Amino acid sequence: MSAALPLAPQESRLLSGLAEQQAFGAAWVALPAGSVLFLEGELGAGKTSLTQGLVAALGFEDTVTSPTYALMHLYPTPAGRVLHVDAYRVRDAGELYEMDLEELAEESRVSIIEWGEKLYADYPNAPILALEHVPAQPELRRVTRKR
Ligand SMILES: Nc1ncnc2c1ncn2[C@@H]1O[C@H](COP(=O)(O)OP(=O)(O)OP(=O)(O)O)[C@@H](O)[C@H]1O
Ligand SMILES: [Mg+2]
Repeated sequence: MSAALPLAPQESRLLSGLAEQQAFGAAWVALPAGSVLFLEGELGAGKTSLTQGLVAALGFEDTVTSPTYALMHLYPTPAGRVLHVDAYRVRDAGELYEMDLEELAEESRVSIIEWGEKLYADYPNAPILALEHVPAQPELRRVTRKR
């Protein structure tokens, strides 16, 4: 039996502060091995914070940063490897597949892919989380599961 995911499709939630953002990320450990999780959200919306929570929940104790320049980061957690992709500068999905994305994702405990719209059709079962600032509430973020 698998644990319930923290949000159902089309559901949203308000998260107050970094700790809640990270705790929400941690709850996605309920995803089965080999899963992909897509994250959308403008600058500062909390993508890295959510990822930090999930990677830490898998037992990884080092720093987690955005793979903005490297495109991909791999975190060897005690629960298995985590793949973290920032596809923002990727022109087409082929560029990622040339980097063995498919195999890397299959063999990872979980793959977190930021700005991965170009891959949505190829991973139809992967949840998509959209993160947003809340107007006039700098201490809040809204997260919506779009799929
Ligand atoms: N739920 C939240 N409420 C308030 N502040 C938050 C929340 N989640 C994250 N933050 C803060 O917002 C800032 C930006 O978060 P983060 O770096 O995770 O965003 P990001 O989406 O990865 O941004 P970027 O696109 O620049 O990589 C950080 O200072 C973080 O502590
Ligand atoms: Mg980031």
